[in-house]
Amino acid sequence: MEENIKPFENKVWLSSPTMHGEELQFVKEAIETNWVSTVGKNINELEKMVANYVGVKDAVALASGTSAIHMAVKLAALKAYNTMTGTGDGKGGSLYGKKVFCSDMTFDATVNPVVYEGGTPIFIDTNKEDWNMDPKALEKAIEMYPDVKILVIAHLYGVPADMEEIIKICKKHNILIVEDAAEALGAYCYIDGKKKMAGALGDYNAISFNGNKIVTGSSGGMFLTDNEEDANKVRKWSTQARENAPWYQHEELGYNYRMSNIIAGIARGNMLHIDEHIAQKKAIYERYKEGFKDLPVIMNPFDSKKVEPNYWLSAMMLDKNVMGEQVRGEKQALYKTEQGKTTPTEILEKISSINAEGRPIWKPMHMQPLYRENAFITVNGNGRANSNAYIAGEGTDVGEDIFERGLCLPSDNKMKAEEQDRIIEVIKSCFE
Ligand SMILES: Cc1ncc(COP(=O)(O)O)c(C=O)c1O
Repeated sequence: MEENIKPFENKVWLSSPTMHGEELQFVKEAIETNWVSTVGKNINELEKMVANYVGVKDAVALASGTSAIHMAVKLAALKAYNTMTGTGDGKGGSLYGKKVFCSDMTFDATVNPVVYEGGTPIFIDTNKEDWNMDPKALEKAIEMYPDVKILVIAHLYGVPADMEEIIKICKKHNILIVEDAAEALGAYCYIDGKKKMAGALGDYNAISFNGNKIVTGSSGGMFLTDNEEDANKVRKWSTQARENAPWYQHEELGYNYRMSNIIAGIARGNMLHIDEHIAQKKAIYERYKEGFKDLPVIMNPFDSKKVEPNYWLSAMMLDKNVMGEQVRGEKQALYKTEQGKTTPTEILEKISSINAEGRPIWKPMHMQPLYRENAFITVNGNGRANSNAYIAGEGTDVGEDIFERGLCLPSDNKMKAEEQDRIIEVIKSCFE
């Protein structure tokens, strides 16, 4: 029984930074040589290393994944709508009046940059097979909104979306892809039989070095591209958009988004260990899968013929028949305990009771108060207002269902097998 399961002395985190030593060395060098600002060897080396690893021609190190997505969205707007950035009116908002297709099951940093630019996200429902954007729902959305020219897609928990299908659809309809690979550095998929890394799958690509990611700089992000002109534009925009003049000359809107050489030192050192981190995360995923093989649950799914994840976060989902009653308000949750049944809320409480950290599934964007009035498109069309008081049955909402029945498991790569076994045991006890 779980009452006998001892809490951990040191907390087991969801996904925390893992430092190795080289990070300190690179930071030390930067300080000793006085290169501590937004230029320097660490930045140059990190950009080369990541571009090489992902298989793109160019990389621009930025302050965060969010700023990388913002730059990517601005470039997409420039291309899709021929928005002039140097018009001299000094205004931002390159997407005013425009709709943009977006992943629904993701962290809000995927879609907020669309709104920074004045655009309106249209959320596309999720696939049961990989918990990412459903290509069929995307096709439905294109039928309903044929004028949309930009799509922003994320790979949830390190599992790549069905990019072969999504790229095909977008090519056919002339839609530009902004790829948010923040959670998926090191993951890959097969496009026409060829292996292609996350971060190289869109027309404009972003990754994150946030503290919880597979590789961290403590913070930071990167814009990745094969297009030198785009990379140079991002270099300019991210350092306040200075023109080539002896004074501060500004003819388009700029941002303070460049990465510092100190952060780059941490990311550069940490990047040396990416394959080791992925192997550890994969072992964690597989240990959970084996540990739960007799439970009525599934792990976050993927099709190994199409993709290889980086296994950044392990997550699970309860079968419908063991779901107890659970009610979630905006900020609190209540559940009923019942023999043989459980809820994500109960499991998360049990995990927390032994000093480990789980987390609810990212709440889908279409359910967020901020985005409640935005369109949400499922395989059947409009995902809102799809029940009828006079007719039995309701529409589909895959994202909501995964949010209801799923949860993220402690996935820290420093977690020991013995610690993970204790977590598995406490989770099993919820089903008794
Ligand atoms: C899917 C996704 N997109 C974007 C971000 C934003 O990255 P950052 O925190 O580096 O701005 C994150 C994580 O933080 C994320 O998980």
